[in-house]
Amino acid sequence: MSMNIAIDGPAGAGKSTIAKKVAKELSFIYVDTGAMYRAMALYLLEKGISGDEKISEACHDADISIRYENGEQQVILNGKNVTAFLRKEEVGNMASVSSANPEVRTHLLKLQRNLAAENNVVMDGRDIGTNVLPNADLKIYLTASSKVRAERRYKELVEKGVEADFDKIEEDIIIRDRQDMEREIAPLKQAEDAVLVDSSDMTIEEVVDAIVAEFEKVK
Ligand code: DC
Repeated sequence: MSMNIAIDGPAGAGKSTIAKKVAKELSFIYVDTGAMYRAMALYLLEKGISGDEKISEACHDADISIRYENGEQQVILNGKNVTAFLRKEEVGNMASVSSANPEVRTHLLKLQRNLAAENNVVMDGRDIGTNVLPNADLKIYLTASSKVRAERRYKELVEKGVEADFDKIEEDIIIRDRQDMEREIAPLKQAEDAVLVDSSDMTIEEVVDAIVAEFEKVK
């Protein structure tokens, strides 16, 4: 049986950075489910598709799969590696909207469950502990204040040489929190059996160590 760690939390909480490091430490595969929703959003943006009904129809034409290159997850959309295009704010904002669509979620759920059944995974997202992997060996709810999350995103963009507006970033984070937490299907919430980690005043290493220590208790 494969071992599964689920990490959920709001945008910018550091899930992918942390999940990647935890996976490396335990020699697990890191699965970034947000990137799958982003690939779907990219598909919809490129096709100019919006509105729930049209999204429900069109999402079945988006064939999304993942593979690993040098340990890094690559997302393949209809045969093309789109990994480099997924982190744009525009794509993230669209993903937050289109991921509320039930057909989109069903389309991606199968891929996520298959990966977790076949591999030891650290999987991050919004509904991993509550919906995708309800029997995960360890569930973490990783959060931080919206201000700290906006600061981190701002720094990340500036370091990449991308122009960034702090207030706009914080505003987008608050809007996305609301969308992700208030949607009807698989909203972001802490699973009852998840361990809460608030990283506002913690370093990356402290968070990784805390999660690995939690895993040692349950494995
Ligand atoms: O973690 P992220 O910013 O890459 O996620 C992009 C969007 O995808 C996020 O706003 C909500 C959605 N998402 C989701 O609904 N369920 C997941 N398991 C992962 C992401």
